[in-house]
Amino acid sequence: MPPRPPKIVLTDPFAGLPDETAEPAANVTFQPFGQTVPARIGKTLLDTARVEGVKLPHACGGHSRCGTCRVRVLQGAENLCEIDVVERRTLKQYAILLPGFRLGCRARVLGDCTVHVEMTAEQAAASWNEKGSSAWRPRGGWK
Ligand code: FES
Repeated sequence: MPPRPPKIVLTDPFAGLPDETAEPAANVTFQPFGQTVPARIGKTLLDTARVEGVKLPHACGGHSRCGTCRVRVLQGAENLCEIDVVERRTLKQYAILLPGFRLGCRARVLGDCTVHVEMTAEQAAASWNEKGSSAWRPRGGWK
């Protein structure tokens, strides 16, 4: 008689993750704008910025491919999730794998923090069209 296959136990892949429907429980300050906005635990900095109307460039739409959402963490680095493989790869690809730098579309909020939106004046001017959406593309196009 063949051995019985191992018993499959279904688990909730989202168990243990913060409840995204919970009320905002943290504050994120975006510099140089000086905007402090409420943030839901577990949301990315980019999601938080979008919801609250903070202009954080995001040329790839938050898919961790362009590096335009880069921020420098000024305070509360311990209140952001760890850098994962995807974020590390993109930061390295755009030569911004530097201490304190994070991608807004990957860094999830775990508590209060302050970040500086890192963009040049040209990017800032070109990032937003009249409809308020990002139009900036990385030099040399998409990798
Ligand atoms: S929005 Fe493109 S890397 Fe974050």
